[in-house]
Amino acid sequence: MSEVADFKPGLEGVVAVETEIAEPDREGGVLRYRGVDIEELVGQYPYENVWGLLVDNDLSSVMPAPEPHEPTGLTGNAPADLQAETARLAGLWKLGKLNEISDDQARTDLGRLSSQMMGIVARSARIADGNTDAVPDELVDQGKTAAERFLLRWRGEADPKAVRAIDTYWICTAEHGLNASTFTARVTASTGADCGAALSSAVGALSGPLHGGAPAYVKPMLEEVAATDDPETWVRDTLDSGKRIMGFGHRIYRAEDPRSRILKQTARELGSPQIEIAERLEEAALAELEKRHPERPLKTNVEYYSAVVLDIAEVPPPLAPAMFACSRVAGWSAHILEQKRTGRLFRPSARYVGPAPRPLSSSVS
Ligand code: COA
Repeated sequence: MSEVADFKPGLEGVVAVETEIAEPDREGGVLRYRGVDIEELVGQYPYENVWGLLVDNDLSSVMPAPEPHEPTGLTGNAPADLQAETARLAGLWKLGKLNEISDDQARTDLGRLSSQMMGIVARSARIADGNTDAVPDELVDQGKTAAERFLLRWRGEADPKAVRAIDTYWICTAEHGLNASTFTARVTASTGADCGAALSSAVGALSGPLHGGAPAYVKPMLEEVAATDDPETWVRDTLDSGKRIMGFGHRIYRAEDPRSRILKQTARELGSPQIEIAERLEEAALAELEKRHPERPLKTNVEYYSAVVLDIAEVPPPLAPAMFACSRVAGWSAHILEQKRTGRLFRPSARYVGPAPRPLSSSVS
């Protein structure tokens, strides 16, 4: 039976879809969105145009500005708020089912939801900071880019360095193939559910620490290393005790993660106070990991310098998964549309390995 022979825990290496959206080039350390190297995008176009490139294959197309909407019942737990409110919007806006609406209508729904999702995270972050008042729409509307509007909605002010840090981070992490949350979005879309359901289920998948949470661990690590001022000894002790160094290694890339390169450069240019200790730790970690794993390139991954760049914008570590969700609205939307066009329901198989047929009486303990 082929399904038994083909079983792969975690579906690693299983090709589940064909996509035209992003191409992580594993050997060359390049990431392309619709064929365009992301290094060419950063600093040239803001995030909302990159959203257009990913969703519409057109850099001159942009994610729309958010329409007026005041979410209710936010708690300050940004991933939970985002997941719940995104699902609720589908009801409020009476969104149609993906199998019943046109591609154009789906694109419109995804645009409305994407920009609204950023506002939900910003409002939730404001509550987590202890504020009880909302920033007036007139002030937020003065923001020229999505990153600026996000900061205005969150803090009522948008420091230009923080704007650039967030915009760069969002562009670098906007899309990365069939990761867990994108796969979740596609599975939900494949059932014909509406765009709110597909996006909110992706948020749920991303809220787990194995997918969206690693930058949260990097900042405390950098602080610990800075306190010892001895990265080499810290790296050796950490590895000797069987622990992993957060921000190194990747399932796909065997060369340097291109996103890490861009984020490092941005951290330097923006004068991050953590860049010096981050570079010293990186050098020590790469040398020791190469010595211990000569068979396997363990390079710096996206999470490491993401943490440093997000720190420039004073993003608290617990907000990191929701910041990641903001960037991924582009990739998820592009994949939901691509999935809609295939029209094929996901229905993989499971291999049954439970008890053999047995009498009812034997199933009571
Ligand atoms: N620090 C120390 N050792 C590491 C390591 C790290 N960051 N990443 C991998 N290794 C080692 C493992 O201990 C293992 O060694 P062993 O064969 O002696 O047991 C070997 O490399 C292979 O590890 P494996 O988990 O099979 O590699 P992978 O390619 O499947 O894992 C990650 C990829 C990202 C899960 C892994 O590199 C990791 O845990 N990194 C740290 C967490 C992190 O940065 N996550 C964010 C990812 S974007």
